[in-house]
Amino acid sequence: MKAFVDKDVCIGCGLCADLCPEVFNIDDDGTASAIDTDIPEDAEDAAKEAAAQCPVEAIKIDED
Ligand code: F3S
Repeated sequence: MKAFVDKDVCIGCGLCADLCPEVFNIDDDGTASAIDTDIPEDAEDAAKEAAAQCPVEAIKIDED
């Protein structure tokens, strides 16, 4: 499973990095990015929660 952040959509609210710091990080530009490797198994639920909670739906989860 992988996560992606659309930086054109992200408003930098920081919720994803709070909910799932193993996967999401706030970059110097103030928007989030996701690790480009597979999500660690123990962080999958938190990553999905972050995607569900993002106020602008900037996070996509690839279930493969
Ligand atoms: Fe951006 Fe959504 Fe995270 S707005 S900082 S991707 S919760």
